[in-house]
Amino acid sequence: MRKKLAAGNWKMNGTTASLAEVDALLAAHPASKCEILLCPPATLVSAMAARIGDGPIHTGGQDCHAEPSGAHTGDIAAGMLVDAGASHVIVGHSERRQDHNETDADIRAKATTATATGLVAVICCGESDNQRVAGQTLDVIGTQLAGSIPDNATAANTVVAYEPIWAIGTGKVPTLEQIGEVHDFIRKILIDRFGTETGDNISILYGGSVKPTNASEIFAVSNVDGALVGGASLKAADFTGIISALETA
Ligand code: PGA
Repeated sequence: MRKKLAAGNWKMNGTTASLAEVDALLAAHPASKCEILLCPPATLVSAMAARIGDGPIHTGGQDCHAEPSGAHTGDIAAGMLVDAGASHVIVGHSERRQDHNETDADIRAKATTATATGLVAVICCGESDNQRVAGQTLDVIGTQLAGSIPDNATAANTVVAYEPIWAIGTGKVPTLEQIGEVHDFIRKILIDRFGTETGDNISILYGGSVKPTNASEIFAVSNVDGALVGGASLKAADFTGIISALETA
């Protein structure tokens, strides 16, 4: 059975005071039919994981380095995230690809290390506005996934997130047909490469301006197994609406 996952990416937002949002989420979802993940900035991973304890919410990092340790000022190793209490890590978010010039090969190396270290890698892909308009969306997604997903990917250690860059933080959302087209395409790629057993069971998240108001219709689209949520994950009141929509999807 494919896992449903509601994942929140706090990006460069949040201080210790923001952990009150976690308390509110725990109160609203003492148990859940789906997995819930929060990826706070690295400074909060340890405190958030400790706050949640054995609760139903997982804690994740937003990035990790491909090397296990070494002279990489400012970077974080996968093992450090595990040590801090994380179970997941996002790799290849478009903001990392853009701001830090991360290539598919970089992302594959990070995902390989992350999964070998015991983390679930949430591997992101997505086309730009120009690529969508030029009709290149499926080519772009195919290339990104071929280059970014490591050969050791399994349904237990890998999640794919489709996030059209033009939909992130903009309030613009693809049509349900557009989301379905890309998710069906990703499913086919996963099955072709890893076989039905693995390919059919890797969860595929949609991300980009998911809100409580549009979550239900997005979760009804084929091969949408959850969401990667930015802005609407910062406040428990918003994120809980998305989690509830996924629970009933
Ligand atoms: P958004 O961000 O929900 O604020 O659009 C999504 C993401 O970047 O993961």
